[in-house]
Amino acid sequence: MKPRSVNTTTLYGGAEHRRVTILDLKKAKTAGEKWAMLTSYEQMTAEIFDSAGIPVLLVGDSAGNNFLGHENTIPVTVEDLIPLTRAVVSGSKRALVVADLPFGSYESSPEQALATSTRFFKEAGAMAVKLEGAHLATVEKLTSVGIPVMGHLGLTPQSLHQLGGYRVQGREDGEVILQAALALEKAGAFAIVLELVPAELAAKITAALAIPTIGIGAGVDCDAQVLVWTDLVGLTANPPKLAKAYRNLRSEISAAAQEFAADVRGGTFPAAENTFN
Ligand code: KIV
Repeated sequence: MKPRSVNTTTLYGGAEHRRVTILDLKKAKTAGEKWAMLTSYEQMTAEIFDSAGIPVLLVGDSAGNNFLGHENTIPVTVEDLIPLTRAVVSGSKRALVVADLPFGSYESSPEQALATSTRFFKEAGAMAVKLEGAHLATVEKLTSVGIPVMGHLGLTPQSLHQLGGYRVQGREDGEVILQAALALEKAGAFAIVLELVPAELAAKITAALAIPTIGIGAGVDCDAQVLVWTDLVGLTANPPKLAKAYRNLRSEISAAAQEFAADVRGGTFPAAENTFN
């Protein structure tokens, strides 16, 4: 099936019948073409976003507070994310599928990160991993054995308690984030998520890097933008300021559930067309 809403020639010009690769993303940056990334945690949204032409799907540890019922991303485990990643890979045909490395699964050493990433590659079919912070030796190790790495700087939710909450990062120490981004690029990262940083800083980092930046609460000048899918469609009860709800599925789903319950109470469901003789 052709992607319906693709407006980038570089990403899909050569990738109609195959997965998007990190080289396609690099070419898009060179061509000045912006693209969108969405999170996905299961098969249905993977199918929908993939056929809508979203070139990169992130199996984010945001599954913790959007799918698994946790308060934040910290409790999420490798065992949680492997089946979700497998579902997103099998639900999609063209998107590059990136698996988030959960808190505690990669920080100890490059070897620990390699062991975890290998599981995501072998058991779930992930095509890249994402990790938070400037773990340079780890990025070098993973990329040296063929595992593409997406970085994540600014507000890194796994460090929530160290950062003192979900706060804008880099207002005073923007230079530290810029240097970390340059170091991640040098270590081999293929893209970097910039979360909750001032738009001016994100624009400066984007201009300084040859690899794409992916913004979330980081202004319009990033090369790409990411949203958590439950925010995108208005399922989230209290969406953060950085998100835009393009639909209100929370009220749609609630209405469907209420209508179903009313039909059952009134004896109008199942109707003749839902009934077998
Ligand atoms: O886990 C996630 O969904 C993320 C995105 C917000 C970038 O890290």
